Amino acid sequence: MPTEKLTLSEKIHRAAEQIIESESRLVIKAYGVIHSTEDFMRAFVRQVMQRFNRSDLAPAVEIVIKELTMNAVKANFKKIYFAEAGLDMENPEQYENGMAAFRDIIDENIFVDYGKKARAAKLSVETIFDFDKDRVIIEVRNNTPMAEHEEKRAREKLDQGLKCEDIAEFMLNSLDETEGAGMGLVLCLTTMRSAGIDPRLLSLYSDFKNETVARVEIPLHAGYVPSRARFQPALAG
Ligand SMILES: Nc1ncnc2c1ncn2[C@@H]1O[C@H](COP(=O)(O)OP(=O)(O)OP(=O)(O)O)[C@@H](O)[C@H]1O
Ligand SMILES: [Mg+2]
Repeated sequence: MPTEKLTLSEKIHRAAEQIIESESRLVIKAYGVIHSTEDFMRAFVRQVMQRFNRSDLAPAVEIVIKELTMNAVKANFKKIYFAEAGLDMENPEQYENGMAAFRDIIDENIFVDYGKKARAAKLSVETIFDFDKDRVIIEVRNNTPMAEHEEKRAREKLDQGLKCEDIAEFMLNSLDETEGAGMGLVLCLTTMRSAGIDPRLLSLYSDFKNETVARVEIPLHAGYVPSRARFQPALAG
């Protein structure tokens, strides 16, 4: 029987149609940053948003997912780096030295190498899309706990992001490059605000034992009461 030849976008379209039809969840598991996975996620987000007549929100959702997955991947890579160097992330001095060295080595080439190491160590990043006609919930889970310093920094960034109107305002007021540029979470929150999504619907949570979860809830219409209004997540504005 001849096999049907489909382009990548046709394959994505078909896969996504089925997942959307069943109103189920889509789970994407990755170990590093792979362009094809990123492309798939972007196409998927666009299709889901279009389906629910909220294409206007797609760019904001894409930005947020990209940042949250990147943070999760980097967190896993950091754990590998610290373990290899024999450094303790919970020791302030060792954390500072380790981060300085990690920043120096981290670039596109290292990403491929560390992606392989993460796979071997089973340190994964799972992106879970859960959607229905009322809301889209996206969770990005990495199976390493947050270190104390990471938690502190994430909390600071979320606080700053809730307070400032846009990314320009944030840049004027804070210049800190202790880890990355430290703009990712703030960018997520200001992007959400510009798209008319309450930035408090982004939260970060770690059980400090096994995993860290970034969660964002996107209401699709004004009548929906987000679960954030019902529960208070552990680490958020
Ligand atoms: N999944 C995660 N696991 C552990 N720590 C995290 C996670 N997500 C965020 N963090 C912590 O929150 C901090 C702030 O994240 P943010 O994305 O704002 O900045 P950054 O990633 O350091 O820099 P940039 O995004 O500009 O490259 C991170 O430096 C890290 O310490
Ligand atoms: Mg970041």
